[in-house]
Amino acid sequence: MIRFAVLISGRGSNMTYLADAIKDYNIAAQITVVISNRYCAGITLAQDRGLPTKVINRKNFNTQAEHEAAIAAAIHYHRSKYVFLAGYMAILSGDFVNQFAGQIINIHPSLLPAFKGLNTHQRAIDENAATHGVSVHMVTAALDEGPMIAQASLPLMASDTADSLAARVLQLEHQIYPFVLLGLAKKILSL
Ligand code: GRF
Repeated sequence: MIRFAVLISGRGSNMTYLADAIKDYNIAAQITVVISNRYCAGITLAQDRGLPTKVINRKNFNTQAEHEAAIAAAIHYHRSKYVFLAGYMAILSGDFVNQFAGQIINIHPSLLPAFKGLNTHQRAIDENAATHGVSVHMVTAALDEGPMIAQASLPLMASDTADSLAARVLQLEHQIYPFVLLGLAKKILSL
């Protein structure tokens, strides 16, 4: 049984697809806790699904280290083997990442190493990229780097706007993150 925590900051759609895939496809996995660094729509969606949730707000802590210590404590308390970042909008420190070396996975809306960071869809359009997509990778201390686990791509269309592209990439995200979870649960994939 793969026990994993999910870290979110916003909409939470990738988290819901992971939660629903576990049920729908009978994946030997369990979301131990959904942690957010602020109140957000995703927390409500997690509660709707009966998942344990915890809002650990940065503003209640003096330092990033104290904030991350609280997050680490929640991950451990819920006996989580892995941590799936799903739209977690804060950069985790090297100390935090090293503490969970080989256990943290991120989903990023671009074909890394292209378009690290934010506004990936607009940047793909601005650069006239032929293809765009999504990457799932292991998290290391460097932003949006770390060994690649899976990628899915799609062609850009002349009519694409940042919003239309984001919507099409999101459909790929919703397939690929559960796919990676399935790989872990079936032991086809090891980190
Ligand atoms: C997704 O595009 C994900 O790739 C990125 O943040 C967004 C989160 O969306 N890291 P959601 O909160 O899962 O709906």
